[in-house]
Amino acid sequence: MALNGFLDIELSVKNPADLGAFWERHGFVRTADGVYGTTERPTVMTIKEGDHRHLSAMHFSCAAERDIADTAKRLEELGVASRITSTTLECTDPVLGHSIRIDVGAPAPLKESGPRTGNRPGERTRWNNRASSLDPSRRRPPRRLGHVVLGSPQIEKSTAFYFEGLGFRISDQFVGANGTFGRVETDHHNLLIHRARVGYLNHYALEVDDFDAIGENGTAVMKENPESHIIGVGRHLLGSNLFWYMRDPSGNMFEFFADMDHINDDEHWANNVRRTDWGSPDAPAPVEAWGPGPNEAFIAVPDIEEIAQARTKRGLA
Ligand SMILES: [Fe+2]
Repeated sequence: MALNGFLDIELSVKNPADLGAFWERHGFVRTADGVYGTTERPTVMTIKEGDHRHLSAMHFSCAAERDIADTAKRLEELGVASRITSTTLECTDPVLGHSIRIDVGAPAPLKESGPRTGNRPGERTRWNNRASSLDPSRRRPPRRLGHVVLGSPQIEKSTAFYFEGLGFRISDQFVGANGTFGRVETDHHNLLIHRARVGYLNHYALEVDDFDAIGENGTAVMKENPESHIIGVGRHLLGSNLFWYMRDPSGNMFEFFADMDHINDDEHWANNVRRTDWGSPDAPAPVEAWGPGPNEAFIAVPDIEEIAQARTKRGLA
């Protein structure tokens, strides 16, 4: 066995105070200096100052001490050095350059979001009351970090690191292994790593309770800054999640998502559902089951040259 949880991330940005204040206004609490989370999960993201925006660390959990030693061995076979104690492994992503930490443990459990009434033809469960989404006191902030999407200029090496080394399980794959969706929890994906000219953080994704909660949280961000909108709302093809993509005040794309596919029978998924030939080698794969298709704001990375220069300075691809 390998990893069992994607716990939190560290983002490095030029304006950490602005980004922290943004997330404090949009549902997180500051639980320590530079650390933001919820009462259930006090660390969802750590925000640090950096010379360019990038993902600077990923934090995972694994079930047992044995997993630490096994992971270190698999990494060594790939030529990736790690520092281990019985309960912690630390290493560096060999392509993208961010830190990886694994601790023996598990993600903190989440409370159920509670029953929600609604009215569908033939199934009326909300009687004599307005929809709860109309009550502003019932704002439901993000619940957890779900996944990140990373671009890699050395996709084969990156894919080997996450899937053979760290032990991610493959959920779906683009044709030619140009992009791979992988999971360490039951989510369809905690990671998508795809081919890109420059290593970069494509987006981080925060899970909310449901479709209404995507609308509620996204609208609150839009009211502050209408230009934060990128694409949404819609439902993805791979992972099935409902999405709304926006840009944070540091220039990172982020996603509010809900209702992703969950997998607890690896064999069934691999044999009956998984695709490994998604898209075409010559064109971007479709992303939406319904809703807007990828637009310029979703595909283009406006600051990619700045990221490329900063990475070159650090000796990274
Ligand atoms: Fe996403």
